[in-house]
Formats: sequence, structure tokens, C-alpha cells
Amino acid sequence: MPGATKMQSSVLQVIFTSFVFLSSVNNGYAGTTSTFTRKEWPSIDIPLDNEAFAVPEGYNAPQQVHITQGDYDGKAVIISWVTADEPGPSRVQYGISKNRYDFTAEGKMTNYTMYRYKSGFIHQVLVDGLEHDTKYYYKIGNGESAREFWFQTPPKIDPDAPYKFGIIGDLGQTYNSLSTLEHYMQSGAQTVLFAGDLAYADRYQYNDVGIRWDSWGCFIERSAAYQPWIWSAGNHEIEYFPYMDEVIPFKSYLHRYPTPYLASKSSSPLWYAIRRASAHIIVLSSYSPFVKYTPQWRWLNEEFKRVNREKTPWLIVLMHVPIYNSNEAHFMEGESMRAVFESWFLKHKVDVVFAGHVHAYERSYRISNVHYNVSSGQHYPVPDKSAPVYITVGDGGNQEGLAGRFRDPQPDYSAFREASYGHSTLEIRNRTHALYHWNRNDDGNKVATDSFVLRNQYWASNRRRRKLRKNHLRSVVGPIAY
Ligand SMILES: [Fe+2]
Repeated sequence: MPGATKMQSSVLQVIFTSFVFLSSVNNGYAGTTSTFTRKEWPSIDIPLDNEAFAVPEGYNAPQQVHITQGDYDGKAVIISWVTADEPGPSRVQYGISKNRYDFTAEGKMTNYTMYRYKSGFIHQVLVDGLEHDTKYYYKIGNGESAREFWFQTPPKIDPDAPYKFGIIGDLGQTYNSLSTLEHYMQSGAQTVLFAGDLAYADRYQYNDVGIRWDSWGCFIERSAAYQPWIWSAGNHEIEYFPYMDEVIPFKSYLHRYPTPYLASKSSSPLWYAIRRASAHIIVLSSYSPFVKYTPQWRWLNEEFKRVNREKTPWLIVLMHVPIYNSNEAHFMEGESMRAVFESWFLKHKVDVVFAGHVHAYERSYRISNVHYNVSSGQHYPVPDKSAPVYITVGDGGNQEGLAGRFRDPQPDYSAFREASYGHSTLEIRNRTHALYHWNRNDDGNKVATDSFVLRNQYWASNRRRRKLRKNHLRSVVGPIAY
């Protein structure tokens, strides 16, 4: 049936071309404020005795297991877990066949107190020297309490390596959070970029703060034990509690969620970078000093120089406070970081900036406001092809509820916004194109609600695209319209 096949092919091409045409991120002024409303579950945390927080059976059984990338290029993971009864070994047995653990890695144990709460024994083990693109099985714990998991290492750094990231922010531990997490796990994404505000444990007082960090660790294990979550810190990680004489910022977070910051020459676990497949991911801290000459500023200045778009075409920035936001909630809170870093985002042609904080979803056009200064009247963002797309995904589902009051009218810089819970995925196809989806939690169902084709800021330029066309583009994505 060659005729039918040709026709089907043509139809598919028209559909795909339309998709590209309709959904490419161009600078237009047709922003959408979704009027969707849903029967929201109450924004209350799941009770501690719920099975969502189930602790594994057995004496000193490892709990709250999670992994993150352990090096710069994806050949290592940091595996972390908690034991409650006694320290036990900080040891990971691992290998490439199930039930056959040929290798062993040893790490360290830490713990901390928060008021009269004493944390369990927190284990952190760096497993390095791994092969790319390989499934590893690992085992932690002792005897009958031992537990086994697996993870898949990413492909080696390659400009055309496809990879699918998930993006989740402000997750918390409500029934809405559970819905987000379960929907994310159906997405097929391989790594989570987490935009800050993890457990919302700081909404509690005294010993309950630590207890809710523990429950959250159990809550995310279903995903985070099997694939890396790339962490960034939000305001709910600060935990400044003078009333109980606990004033060291990020105490719980830093003990529980290690990051590979040394691999990118950072001086703090709160800001760092990793490379994974075809992406270079920069994690910033909205709640650490970032103005000129601070360690974070100086580090970012150097890290941008290390970005090589010939090897990692996709440049992604992850932070907590959005720079462009049109919600009444947290409006303008990102302005100070915008004033410091926005010009660098343009200069280095960042593809996309993911943030959380605002409990709603919003996507910007490519816009910038670098011409504004305190003595200039040019204060409004303008279309800018060098600018990243700014996406806010603070809609994980925490107990503070949705941020439902958008500013009216919708500003020109805002392309799409909706106050619903959900998660996003960024599916990198090759060096020039990635597919982006925002998925709403629609009363228990997952509904793809906002989607577009993201063109790479470096490789999709006219000059490079022409150069590539013969060699790569047609062979990878077929004939498409521009
Ligand atoms: Fe926040």
C-alpha cells in the first residue's frame, strides 16, 4: 500500500508542521490565561500513618532512599538513605546483573538534631566509575532488612543524545503531591529537575519538622531511589527557627540531600552544575548571596565559560524564584536576581529557565528587560530572540494550595498561565529540537495542557541550522517546516 503510506506520511507531516507552527516559541502577544477549574483536593498533608509514607519492615531497614548525579558527566551517583535503629554500614553493593553485586562502595554517615528531634542515621555513598547508558542494580542494608533497587546511567555526553527530563517544583506531601508524583512516574522521564521547596516540613513546629522531612523521604522514594533527582533549594529549606533556637539555614536540607557541587568547582552544595546526555544544567540558589563578587556570582561567571554547546547543546538553568511571573503571589521577588543574571542568560543563550515558588504554572515568551535601569524609562520587557523561555512549575501540590490570582490583564511577556497542579517534561530529541509538555493533574487524570517545540538557542540559529541540515536534521527528525 505505497499510496496509503505516502498519504499517511503527508498527513503526519502536515500535523507535525502545524504543531511546530502553532506551538513554536515565538514572540507574539497572544498570551493565554486558562480558565480551567478543577475539583481540588483539600490542600492538607497526608496523615503520617498513610501507606504513602510506609517505612520498610525489618530491623534497621534502609528507608528514604534517593539518588542524585554524583559527578559532572553522569558516570557517578550519590546514593543516600536513612537507618533508624543503629548506624549500620554506609555501604552499597552494586553490579550490572540483578542479584549479582560484584562491586562495593563505601561512604559516610551523618546525622543532626532539630530542637529535640534527632534524625536517623543518614548515609551518603558516592558510587563512581560507572559506565554510561547502563542499568545498575544496587543493594543496601543488612541481612533480611537489605533492600534492592536499580538505576540507569545516562548516555555519554553527546550533542545529539536524546534524553527526557521531568520538572517538578514545590511538591510537599498532600494528596495533590501524590497525584503529581504518580503522574510524573508515568511520563517515562529519566531524571527530575527539582525546582525547590521539597517537604514543606517547616510548616510544622518543634519535633514535627524533622518527622515531616522523614515522611517526605519515604514519599519520594518510589521515584528517587530509581532515578536521580537534581536538587535546588527553596525558601522552605531555609528553616530559620529562632523560637526553638535553630538558626542555621538549610540544616535539614543539606544533611539529607547532598549534591555533586565539588565536581563543578562550586564552594557550596546550594549552587552547582552537571552535564547529562546533551544538557548542561546550572542550579542556582535564590536564597544565597548572588550579587556581584559573591561566591555564587563568581562561580556562575566561571561555569558559563565551561559550557560547550558543541558537546552539550542544551543549556538549562534551575532555580526557585521565577524571574518572570505574572501571579500576584511572589510578584517581583525574582527581580533582584534578574538584575544580576539576566544579561548573562542572554549572552550565553540559555535555552530555558525553570523555577518554582509560585504555586501555579506559567510560561513566558522569549523576552528580556536588560535595557532597564534606575535612570532609564525603558522598564518593560521586550521580545528578545537571545532570551531563554522562563517556565514556572511551582505547582507540585503542597499544603499551601494554589496561587489563583493572576495579575490582570495578562502581561505581554506571559504566554500561558494556569493555576493547577501538575508537572512538566522536556524531551530532548537532538541538538536542535526538544519537546516540552506541561501536564495538569486533572481530578486524578494526567492531561497534557501546554506544549511546544523548543528550538535550541545555539544550534537552531539560521547559520548553524543550514550547516547542520545536510548532516543531521533530516536524518533525525525528517522534513519539517520552519
Ligand atoms: Fe517557595
